[in-house]
Amino acid sequence: MSRLFATAGDGSVRVVENSPARSVLTSLLLAGVPIRHDCGGIARCGTCRVRVGGEGAGLSAIGASERERLEALKAPTGDRLACQARTARDLEFEILDSGEPGREGLGGHRGSD
Ligand code: FES
Repeated sequence: MSRLFATAGDGSVRVVENSPARSVLTSLLLAGVPIRHDCGGIARCGTCRVRVGGEGAGLSAIGASERERLEALKAPTGDRLACQARTARDLEFEILDSGEPGREGLGGHRGSD
């Protein structure tokens, strides 16, 4: 187990237990941390983007679908999609959109587009 230190837009920090067996998004949702995830975790919407900074050291490699979405968003280096990123290490990052989630909790409907 590692820990995620997630800073929300209001500056509050939530500390969440994490497992490399699940995505950062899943760990946040399991802990009740609000973060948008409109497509349900399939790297299509970009609403789950988090700002890790640097080169995102300690995170899983960026896959093709995540890279495509980040490029479409013109995301700076160090931004990642929480639904795609995994880590076995403690990690600090900023949640860029804690707004109303597009889907309620885990296992929500996945977008079809
Ligand atoms: S939830 Fe849509 S890209 Fe991550």
